[in-house]
Amino acid sequence: MATAASPHSILLKTPSTATPKAVFPVATRLPTAALKPISIRCAATTQIQDPRPPPPPPPAAAQERVCNFAAGPAVLPENVLLKAQSELYNWRGSGMSVMEMSHRGKEFSSIIQKAESDLRSLLEIPPEYAVLFLQGGATTQFAAVPLNLCRPDDPVDYLVTGSWGDKAFKEAQKYCKAKVVWSGKAEKYTKIPSFGDVEQDPDAKFLHICANETIHGVEFKNYPVPKNKSGLLVADMSSNFCSKPVDVSKFGVIYAGAQKNVGPSGVTIVIVRKDLIGNAQGITPVMLDYKIHADNASLYNTPPCYGIYMCGLVFEDLLEQGGLKEVEKKNKNKAELLYRTIDDSKGFYRCPVEASVRSLMNVPFTLEKSELEAEFIKEAAKEKMVQLKGHRSVGGMRASIYNAMPLAGVEKLVAFMRDFQARHA
Ligand SMILES: Cc1ncc(COP(=O)(O)O)c(C=O)c1O
Repeated sequence: MATAASPHSILLKTPSTATPKAVFPVATRLPTAALKPISIRCAATTQIQDPRPPPPPPPAAAQERVCNFAAGPAVLPENVLLKAQSELYNWRGSGMSVMEMSHRGKEFSSIIQKAESDLRSLLEIPPEYAVLFLQGGATTQFAAVPLNLCRPDDPVDYLVTGSWGDKAFKEAQKYCKAKVVWSGKAEKYTKIPSFGDVEQDPDAKFLHICANETIHGVEFKNYPVPKNKSGLLVADMSSNFCSKPVDVSKFGVIYAGAQKNVGPSGVTIVIVRKDLIGNAQGITPVMLDYKIHADNASLYNTPPCYGIYMCGLVFEDLLEQGGLKEVEKKNKNKAELLYRTIDDSKGFYRCPVEASVRSLMNVPFTLEKSELEAEFIKEAAKEKMVQLKGHRSVGGMRASIYNAMPLAGVEKLVAFMRDFQARHA
């Protein structure tokens, strides 16, 4: 074995009982000067440089965006993305990204407070309602709503106009006596009943609706008046949240996943009348208890900070556009153009939903020649229009045209649809 003077060679040659001979001089006692308190200043005067070369600028193709008709997560406003990009590395001179901030620090407090206050302005949320920024998606609210609003033996009414309402009902059955008072299943979820025809239980704790069925493209244009004694209406507004003005005072609870109209997935917004808070069933997990979150201003545990920041940017953008009345006008315009193209196609395209309840957000349609559907999707993708395939449970096509889909995106789609029809009719 070579007798190189490395620490390893010394260890190898030294019997385990012997004290290894030190290669480097080690001070056995610290000099007294070293025991003096040292003051370390964190505000470094020298810029800490990453020794690696900066990444090359992205190729031009990486800058190109598609027309994204996804149902969610979905398109976000381009100016919001660019603003987030410009603030990603160092949020407004804080020296940190929002992703790196303490959720209890002053910077993030200002972000979440501004997000809440802008949302309150947008929806004109009355002061007697709490706004909660939660996690777990709207799916978690399917359980949280009955857990917070009723006892296990309480009857509750569900008006089921699509798959999401049905899922909400099925989950609620675990926590209360949930009953379907009307279901559109037999008609493939293409309708909303006239409310007078729906028999409601006067003892029901609340009536639940899904304000916009994302998969089936069915949207309530006005809301049923609950006939239960407490007069409570609860709505899943995941896929039309902030797409138009809503009279919040008509609802006990409104909940929505953010990832369609107002931000990335991971944030769930709950707007709940304050007098309904504090009655959760004993088995309710703390993370589902509205009182825990309301008492802690949505900061009971670590919230989805970056997602809330993004929602805040979207709320600012919606206010800058002139608020939800303006946003609704734009949404109507886009939806009318698309539905007109479908209806004027002489049956080449078909939307199965009854005209009066067609969604402004999710437009499902089929092709008369269903064998052409795959070709339609393929050709559209070549033209950079993506995510047009209908939900796997219903097939066909679906164009989701949320707030952030520009009119130009819908114009491009309808031009393509007309051209496709001309070539394949
Ligand atoms: C209307 C509606 N409700 C509930 C959900 C479920 O939301 P999440 O995936 O956030 O739990 C969705 C998802 O697309 C939806 O569209």
